[in-house]
Amino acid sequence: MSSTFILSLDQGTTSTRAILFDTAGIEVASLSEPLQQYYPGDGEVEHDASEIYAAAVKVLRGVLEMAGRRASEVAAIGVTNQRETIVVWDRKTGEPVGRALVWQDRRTAPACEALRAKGVEPRVTALTGLLLDPYFSGTKLAWILDSQPGLRARAEAGELLAGTMDCWVIWKLTGGAVHATDATNASRTLLFDIHAQDWSDELLDLFRVPRGLLPRVLNCADDYGRTLPEFLGGAIAIRGVAGDQQAALMGQGCIRPGEMKATYGTGCFLLLNTGETAARSSARLLTTVAARLDGKATYALEGSIFVAGAALQWVNEGLQVPGGGAEVEALARRARPGHGVTLVPAFTGLGAPWWDPEARAGLLGMTRDTGIPEIADAAFEAAAFQTRDLIEAMRLDAPAAFGPDAELRVDGGMSRSAWFCQKLADRTRTPVGRAAYEETTALGAALFAGLGCGIFATPADAASARPQTTRLSPQGDSEAADQAYAGWLRAVSRIRSDA
Ligand code: G3P
Repeated sequence: MSSTFILSLDQGTTSTRAILFDTAGIEVASLSEPLQQYYPGDGEVEHDASEIYAAAVKVLRGVLEMAGRRASEVAAIGVTNQRETIVVWDRKTGEPVGRALVWQDRRTAPACEALRAKGVEPRVTALTGLLLDPYFSGTKLAWILDSQPGLRARAEAGELLAGTMDCWVIWKLTGGAVHATDATNASRTLLFDIHAQDWSDELLDLFRVPRGLLPRVLNCADDYGRTLPEFLGGAIAIRGVAGDQQAALMGQGCIRPGEMKATYGTGCFLLLNTGETAARSSARLLTTVAARLDGKATYALEGSIFVAGAALQWVNEGLQVPGGGAEVEALARRARPGHGVTLVPAFTGLGAPWWDPEARAGLLGMTRDTGIPEIADAAFEAAAFQTRDLIEAMRLDAPAAFGPDAELRVDGGMSRSAWFCQKLADRTRTPVGRAAYEETTALGAALFAGLGCGIFATPADAASARPQTTRLSPQGDSEAADQAYAGWLRAVSRIRSDA
């Protein structure tokens, strides 16, 4: 039988999901496995890479079974992943030397501070488009190498390998034959020169990372080898890889300069395509690789918010409100209008444009009649206000992109709520395009894989498989929205670590 499907693996922060797509980008079957989180200390977040690999095999195999399809019917696999999270493993045994340090982990904040004190941040930013923040992999990798006696020497002797979760899973799925990542994932490490499109010796020196640990950097649509036949009942070619936010950018069809999307998962990541220009931010946004195809990189400006959907989870778990996001929404919709409660959800510090790893969350403006509904509403408001922070920063950095037609395409868990999407449009004063299909991250990886195996001839062909969007225009009074936003900014200034 001819190959008519594309299999996508989305290794995310809280789950590992496989989705089988047909060649028009329509979901055929989906299966996911939750991922255990480890919080060994304040601001520390770890994952077990072996659990991730086992889950990847389980969901890939399971989704084929669910759909009643065989490996021979799958043209290619696309892999996408939580970015920055990094693991080191033994190249002979294939065993991780310890847990993976997750992108949310803040333990290397002092190391970043020490580097900043040396005055190297402008140079790091010029090469990588990033800032000195523990969010990125570079200081995490150095921390791992220093965490056990003898590890650094073993790394220098070539006994160890390192990689982000795409790289790790691909190495395992190919039986150790392929140690590679793609340019979007590489661009999040602080070790990769986004202009030269190669690991930078200067940065490897600065972060004390031996080059031999690092994978080859390939295009987003490229040859990443084949899975061992025993995993999925036959070998399948891996032909697409991208970090999850860049995959979602593709899945939303944002391949032209000026197109932008925001994905609301654990955090929220807003990416604005800037084409072949690696725009420099003056508003503390990141410059990142949007995609690399046939050796040619395109770039994006990115604003990264660490806590969006995770604030709803906090309402569920921390405040013991049973259910999921839908229950939090039902509560929020009962909140007293004009309640004045602000939640600044800096549970793991603040991301863009504040970059304050030491800030911690605050709940402000409570009165005697504040209850859980008001706090639930404040959790949704926080996602909307943080998005406005990013949009205001993008307006400064890329004013041309924000004409009256600028539309923010949204996806991810919170976009399921039409109520939240309208709030987003009202609070940001920007039209919102709500994707009819929310798994645009997995779709984007499938589209890159489809390009890699020749199902799509051009990026534009691939992008035409993007889901329909419904446009929501800002409603209500602009001035009132500006006042509410000013209140948010005051709340942020009160919880900053230097406040
Ligand atoms: O940069 C971190 C990001 O890639 C994680 O995304 O969807 O797993 O929360 P998500």
